[in-house]
Amino acid sequence: MKEPLITKKILKWYDLNKRSLPWRKKVPVQKKQYFTLVSEFMLQQTQVVTVIPYFNKFIKEVPNLKALSQVQNKKLIKLWEGLGYYSRAKNLKKTAQLIIKNFKGKLPNDFELLMSLPGIGNYTASAILAIAFNKPFIPLDGNIERVLKRYLYLKKDKEIQKDVISEKKSVFGISSRSSDYAQALMELGALICKPINPECNRCPVSKSCKSLKKNDFNLSKLKKKNKDKYFILKVYKKDKKFLLIKNTKFNFLKNLTIFPMEELIEPKNFDENFKFKMSNMNMSIKIKYLKNTKRPPSSYWFDKEKLDKYVLPTFTKKIVKYIERN
Ligand code: ADE
Repeated sequence: MKEPLITKKILKWYDLNKRSLPWRKKVPVQKKQYFTLVSEFMLQQTQVVTVIPYFNKFIKEVPNLKALSQVQNKKLIKLWEGLGYYSRAKNLKKTAQLIIKNFKGKLPNDFELLMSLPGIGNYTASAILAIAFNKPFIPLDGNIERVLKRYLYLKKDKEIQKDVISEKKSVFGISSRSSDYAQALMELGALICKPINPECNRCPVSKSCKSLKKNDFNLSKLKKKNKDKYFILKVYKKDKKFLLIKNTKFNFLKNLTIFPMEELIEPKNFDENFKFKMSNMNMSIKIKYLKNTKRPPSSYWFDKEKLDKYVLPTFTKKIVKYIERN
């Protein structure tokens, strides 16, 4: 396979600069697969330096897939203590059990089969295929994404969508040393193309890096799209009073005073009276006027002429204004 120049440069840099990490040790194939599985689960939400001692202890105490499938939960949790996100440990054990039951104890080398295992998503499946099986996958972790965004100067919203980034990854080319290459790209992000103060003078591909040319290393993040949400808001009126309620039901405006509301999931032909933007939501609100004399728990009658006296969230004040106008 003829490797593009960028691939050659990055691999050459890796050979000279890679960190010696316990899961990178040269070991027999079966062991390599086990090392990769365990390390990739640990590295999902945790940094390399933190993972190292945990990985070493784990491998010593639970040396192979069979032992992992039978490990006592108490011991498993103890080995994971301090890494956090314990669901990873539970999924790791479940994955080991399924590999033994369904794949004769061999880690599958197929994307879909890997994805079917608990705790393995797109990223981990790609990482396992590249690192353990030397398949030409480039797992898009935070490090590689940063290198790519900087190298190609991808800043605009439409350039940094996940699918676009995935496609642009092809600029890295492929190598017959896929296992090393995936790790080389991660390493380049971790050691050189760091989030702040990238060390471009040590970077093997700085000559063709667009961010360096522009002298702009800022990274833009995708703005989270606001979710559309729909609510029925109930206005109970009695004389000059409104019924308001302490909100224990919704995650927004927690424990604050709001009108009683209900969320509707995917309503058809929703005809809203009122729109409101709050944190990550575009709220559409339909107001229902109801008559009620019975007070639900944690609700109170608020005299509308004395509303100024109460501490109310802007949201509630705006609804009051709307009701008064209409
Ligand atoms: N992050 C995720 N996988 C990694 C690996 N194999 N080496 C270094 N950092 C990583």
